[in-house]
Amino acid sequence: MSAPNKSYDPVEVETLKPEEIERMRDEALAAFAAADSLDALHEAKVAHTGPASPLALANREIGALPPHAKADAGKRVGMARGAVNKALAARQTELEAERDARVLVEEAVDVTLPYDRVPAGARHPLTTMMERVADVFVSMGYEVAEGPEVEAEWFNFDALNIAPDHPARTMQDTFFIEAGKGEDSGVVLRTHTSPVQIRSLLHREPPVYVVCPGRVYRTDELDATHTPVFHQIELLAVDEGLTMADLKGTLDHMVQSLFGADMKTRLRPNYFPFTEPSAEMDMLCYVCKGASVGDPDRPCRTCSSEGWIELGGCGMVNPRVLTACGVDPEKYSGFAFGFGIERMLMFRHNVEDMRDMVEGDVRFTRPFGMEI
Ligand code: DAH
Repeated sequence: MSAPNKSYDPVEVETLKPEEIERMRDEALAAFAAADSLDALHEAKVAHTGPASPLALANREIGALPPHAKADAGKRVGMARGAVNKALAARQTELEAERDARVLVEEAVDVTLPYDRVPAGARHPLTTMMERVADVFVSMGYEVAEGPEVEAEWFNFDALNIAPDHPARTMQDTFFIEAGKGEDSGVVLRTHTSPVQIRSLLHREPPVYVVCPGRVYRTDELDATHTPVFHQIELLAVDEGLTMADLKGTLDHMVQSLFGADMKTRLRPNYFPFTEPSAEMDMLCYVCKGASVGDPDRPCRTCSSEGWIELGGCGMVNPRVLTACGVDPEKYSGFAFGFGIERMLMFRHNVEDMRDMVEGDVRFTRPFGMEI
């Protein structure tokens, strides 16, 4: 720093003249007053209070004054800077308040506006139905098992004791994907959920208790009562000492859980290659409870006055199936059953046309509501 210059007259230092200081102060005050935004105020702040501002430069001149002049000049500059800072702070507060008031208006949320302009939709009743049925078994300790929809012919047919010349294998029923070659199994779109029985037995050690919901395919034309893509739910229990009585009790429990405590089932002899003995299972009509039978005054649309509704197939797992899965039929026995979900939806909810279930129109789905 240069030494004080004794002959230096402060009055002669242009920037420290009182009217100069006043001018600088007034310019700063005017600039702050003119700033109409916080950004503009920031610019004015840099220009009038920053290190290169006229007042800061004037302040620096004080150091070079002779001692007797310093106090006076210092006081003048100090007062001017004080006034400038005060005005700056005041304008800052003012502009911030303005901004806050504006944000409150501009960003206000009108909580009275409707929030549900986009309709929520609904789950498909087939999904809900499958989950309901599966839940009945999950609550009894069964495990949900799944398998592929594109399935090896061996799982879909051979392992289930369906011989190569069985009519179910013909082109009329099955969508074939790939023909088998020699030892290699062909590939099909699974025609039922029963192959999941095989997969479950191969992947688990008995006791096995599984419920297998899923999509299946058959070469049917889409009409009011047929669809080439539909859903089944399959049940398999393999344990020591299981009998037909266990199967019957399980079926009764299922229909009671789904349709009411006074429901029951009946079994009629039938044939399935993968069960022996096999049965067709019917449930009591949950609408007329059998009262419409033989009473022309009380016709029942749900069961066509039959008193019973056919649900699906069942039986004791054929020992040949257990053997194919490496399970000893001398030690273990099992029961199985399977039925179609579309059919259940039709009679449970009076759906008259299967096409409604596959078209994906929300006007069909919505009345079933959101069931989770
Ligand atoms: N898989 C048979 C079908 O699609 C239904 C069936 C019958 C499943 C008897 C079973 C059963 O588990 O034991 O027609």
